[in-house]
Amino acid sequence: MRALVTGGAGYIGSHAVRALAARGHEPVVFDNLSRGHREAVIDAPIIVGDLLSPGDTAQAIASSRAEAVLHFAGLTYVGESVGHPDVYYRNNVAGTMNLLDAMREHRVGTIIFSSTAAVYGDPVRLPIDEDHPLAPVSPYGRSKLMVEWMLRDRAASLGLRYVALRYFNAAGSSLDGRIGEDHEPETHLIPRVLLAAAGELPELTILGTDWDTPDGTCIRDYIHVEDLAEAHVLALDHLAGGGRSASWNLGTGKGCSVREVIACAEKVTGRKVPLVEGGRRAGDPAVLVAAADRIQRELGWRPRHLDLEAIVASAWRWVERGGRYARLAAARGAGR
Ligand SMILES: NC(=O)c1ccc[n+]([C@@H]2O[C@H](COP(=O)([O-])OP(=O)(O)OC[C@H]3O[C@@H](n4cnc5c(N)ncnc54)[C@H](O)[C@@H]3O)[C@@H](O)[C@H]2O)c1
Repeated sequence: MRALVTGGAGYIGSHAVRALAARGHEPVVFDNLSRGHREAVIDAPIIVGDLLSPGDTAQAIASSRAEAVLHFAGLTYVGESVGHPDVYYRNNVAGTMNLLDAMREHRVGTIIFSSTAAVYGDPVRLPIDEDHPLAPVSPYGRSKLMVEWMLRDRAASLGLRYVALRYFNAAGSSLDGRIGEDHEPETHLIPRVLLAAAGELPELTILGTDWDTPDGTCIRDYIHVEDLAEAHVLALDHLAGGGRSASWNLGTGKGCSVREVIACAEKVTGRKVPLVEGGRRAGDPAVLVAAADRIQRELGWRPRHLDLEAIVASAWRWVERGGRYARLAAARGAGR
């Protein structure tokens, strides 16, 4: 199937593009490269353009002759969204409206959307299933929930068919080490721990050691990026086969604490991670763990990388290779 992949030059989108191509689909990336990397796009052409431009967006849908859209593009930092809610609502909500309008104009009726565990807010029960109350606590989470609502309403009256996938914490890199996580600034725990182990960060600050958890640090559900990518292929096949619209969690159902991640990174790298014990960050829940059995039951999705050590090892391979697309490109240039 020909699929337009918005945000396909970003971390998760670039892995999904490879998974789609490997399964015989024809992905075409649409990305403004504000936070993504041209070098991350393997196995697909890229159209550089902005979702905030209705013209760029309609042109991308038309020229790619897309039959479906996978929508990863967005701004993704909770903290940044608190300081710049206007930017987040414009990019994530207004950008998606442009996309949905262009899809309607060109009769593309299928979309898979990158949603987030942040739509649930502070958990009132654990693990978090899809029926958990939706009460996001940041502009980022609210912008994602607004898009889910737009999808639901357009499905009810305009015939759109969608799957919203609510990711917990994406982690790891491609198993062949060719693509990986390269965010600036990097806010995610696993890459930060590894960058500290590699000496590229002076230290790792633990954000709170007095949480109500067994070791006092926050617990999260880390899901390997290739397992996320695989779920998108299944979701696309599901909708292509006439399956119903749905919102599903993507996680492993297993929680790991910050201290467990650090111990695992020290084991994988054979290095000591320099640590600072800091205070809590406002808005962080103590524990976020998915109940992710619904998509397993309904689509037959099975996460393959359930072991934290395997996830951290794949992320470390990427850091050892250079861990930054610009650095890899410079090294290739110097070698010529
Ligand atoms: N990384 C995670 O753990 C995680 C967790 C939950 C949900 N998500 C969601 O998954 C998606 C992908 O996350 P990621 O970590 O790969 O982020 P990323 O920043 O690596 O990728 C996002 C991509 O979107 C592009 N983009 C942003 N605004 C755009 C616009 N207006 N027009 C065109 N392109 C635009 C960026 O250039 C970038 O390549 C996001 O929507 C994010 O909210 C990510």
